[in-house]
Amino acid sequence: MREPVDGVSVLIDAKRLRDRIESLAREIEMVYDGLDLHLICVLKGATFFMVDLARALRCPVSLDFIGVSSYGGGARSSGIVRITKDLDISIEGRDVLIVEDIVDTGLTLAHMRELLMTREPRSLRVCALLDKREARLSSVPIDFVGFTIPNSFVVGYGLDYTERYRELPYVGVLEPSRYQGESSR
Ligand code: PRP
Repeated sequence: MREPVDGVSVLIDAKRLRDRIESLAREIEMVYDGLDLHLICVLKGATFFMVDLARALRCPVSLDFIGVSSYGGGARSSGIVRITKDLDISIEGRDVLIVEDIVDTGLTLAHMRELLMTREPRSLRVCALLDKREARLSSVPIDFVGFTIPNSFVVGYGLDYTERYRELPYVGVLEPSRYQGESSR
């Protein structure tokens, strides 16, 4: 068991994450009954979630990764997404599920959805582990949600603050004094 980390309080522990990912997998299988599912992981935060979700699914899956970053370099997402690592596999005609760790303003996801739709997948859905609904600026649809969370700065299970905390086995809230003056995520 990992020691508590200074400045981080547990919001969703490892067991709750495991249990919810199992039940999410069952929900997803019902929708894709008999189909091959193509998972697209949005780097880097969603990697832990994508790996655990892929292992929980009892249907055939293929995996790909996309890297995105917002223009401007500000603490807040600008909504204009630049691809830093494009997909390796064409999504044309595939049943695609975008796997996100968190949807905050929704601007990244809205732009990415629009972009991927131009590549003519057979279907395009979204699965987000964490939904920070209160922070939403774009009403992008999310088909599968793990947890709805409050508008706090969360880290762990893939989510970082300045590249720290990703390796924590739980999702925790970072004390405001640790990121003073920055965005809420
Ligand atoms: C996070 C997350 C989403 C985006 C959500 O990525 O993985 O892609 O922010 O924010 P939004 O809804 O306000 O647009 P981040 O930019 O932190 O990159 P990372 O996953 O590499 O840490």
